[in-house]
Amino acid sequence: MIPILNASGCLDALTAPDVARSLDAFVTKTVTPLPREGNAPVRIAETEAGMLNSIGLANPGIDAFLEHHLPRLAELGVPIWVSIGGFAAEDYAALAGLLDTRDEVAAMELNVSCPNVEETPESAAEVVAAARAQTAKRLYAKLSPALPDVAATAAAVQSAGADGLSLVNTIRGLALDPGTLRPVLGTGSGGYSGPALRPIALAAVFACARATQLPIVGMGGVATGRDALEFVAAGARSVALGTALFADPEAPQRIRRELEAEAARLGIDSVEDAIGAAHRDGGASDTLDSSLRVWPRKALQIR
Ligand SMILES: Cc1cc2nc3c(=O)[nH]c(=O)nc-3n(C[C@H](O)[C@H](O)[C@H](O)COP(=O)(O)O)c2cc1C
Repeated sequence: MIPILNASGCLDALTAPDVARSLDAFVTKTVTPLPREGNAPVRIAETEAGMLNSIGLANPGIDAFLEHHLPRLAELGVPIWVSIGGFAAEDYAALAGLLDTRDEVAAMELNVSCPNVEETPESAAEVVAAARAQTAKRLYAKLSPALPDVAATAAAVQSAGADGLSLVNTIRGLALDPGTLRPVLGTGSGGYSGPALRPIALAAVFACARATQLPIVGMGGVATGRDALEFVAAGARSVALGTALFADPEAPQRIRRELEAEAARLGIDSVEDAIGAAHRDGGASDTLDSSLRVWPRKALQIR
């Protein structure tokens, strides 16, 4: 079975509990130490191949979350992953320490891909190490597709004690109003998600599956079972749905069905057998990553 999750920030489980119950785990919107109202409107813009958002981590803050939201989320009966965010490693450590005491929390996702947090392999690893020191619960590091070397960051967070990777967050994009030629979003640019993100996300999953042994939650533009199967083939062990949920609240069940059907169509007995299929002999061996490593050496041998 390939677990299907929601992507953080793309489902309000308390207003759509049936959708949340159709998932194998529910991931909360990122919670920060203090409440945040988020950015000024406009905060959502549609484009032809995806969606831009500038929500800006609007959330009630950890105290209200622990007191009011978490007990109600636990009543859904699905494992709860809490996404946490901050502006320094100490913020993540404090949040992880508070959540560690709560039985309702199955895992934490460290949103180290927030545009306001500088993200280098060292700083992502520092955040993971700081949170690791405060909890024995599972920690997933959520990385940005805009990192110069996502695989290096993945290896660094593995060394720092992460239990898994969530790949990927949105990538920066801009939409202009057709009439005024001014940015549609109040913040100017925002996070781009949806179908256009898929090949970028797939490349990140592929590279990180080679660089680490960590389980990967693959996400970025998944809208069909075929998309989900490609993430699995690239190395993901579970798949999360984001933008697709806005258009189709029944996407979790549909994608589960389509995933089984697509695997069967390709002669794969069980979907789990497809995990990492893209890395096997006869698969795509000449990836950008491997070619970058191999060709300079070959070129040297020729000379
Ligand atoms: C409206 C919206 C809000 C989001 N909020 C968060 C968030 O709070 N924390 C986070 O880690 N990612 C957040 N994301 C990113 C998604 O979790 C996901 O990584 C991204 O959208 C790619 O998946 P998709 O193409 O399936 O949407 C948000 C995305 C959208 C569209």
